[in-house]
Amino acid sequence: MKFFIDTANLSDIQEAQELGILDGVTTNPSLMAKEGICGTQNVIDHYKAICTIVDGDVSAEVIGTNYDEIIREGLELAKLDDKIVVKVPMIKDGVKAIKYFSNEGIKTNCTLVFSGGQALLAAKAGATYVSPFLGRLDDISTDGLGLIEEIRLIYNNYGFTTQVLAASVRHAMHIVNCSKVGADVTTSPLSAITALLKHPLTDAGLAQFLADHKRVSERK
Ligand code: E4P
Repeated sequence: MKFFIDTANLSDIQEAQELGILDGVTTNPSLMAKEGICGTQNVIDHYKAICTIVDGDVSAEVIGTNYDEIIREGLELAKLDDKIVVKVPMIKDGVKAIKYFSNEGIKTNCTLVFSGGQALLAAKAGATYVSPFLGRLDDISTDGLGLIEEIRLIYNNYGFTTQVLAASVRHAMHIVNCSKVGADVTTSPLSAITALLKHPLTDAGLAQFLADHKRVSERK
């Protein structure tokens, strides 16, 4: 399973990259705004900066919502770096644009997916990735993980190569559960990735090993 980090924060991306397990980055307009990145040139420069840090796909989201705008923005973004994946919302013009980008060999991530039917359309249009939003479904007391399972089943039934990118992943158990149901990728904040490291028995065991080593060393 691939690990993507869901942020526009350069130091978090750097830290995840240094951990040696990072496969890519996803961003969205809210995450860019959180870092105070605004204005076309600043946004472009920020994507370029992300691409210099990470060794993998970097999703850059279009703002336009009609076909012509999505195509224009997507072509501009795709030109920035081979790592750029054009992130397109699951709307009618978005699906048409994904089909266009797919024919042009431009990678896409179909975002804001909340149903199996939407995921089916994204795959039919040739999306590279589909992003079902697990956490936001959980937030409204629906079964986010169930949607990941459903999409996995649909794609397996027909051999779709669109990768299931579990998005809106909020914590370590979301990541573990996504790996159990066969998500191809999870994207999450750094905190969810580093939480996977943690187990109290690891900490206690290490403390004991070091104490025993010290005790014996001091006898010599
Ligand atoms: C998807 O790519 C989005 O950037 C993201 O995962 C949204 O997560 P949130 O629901 O925590 O905002």
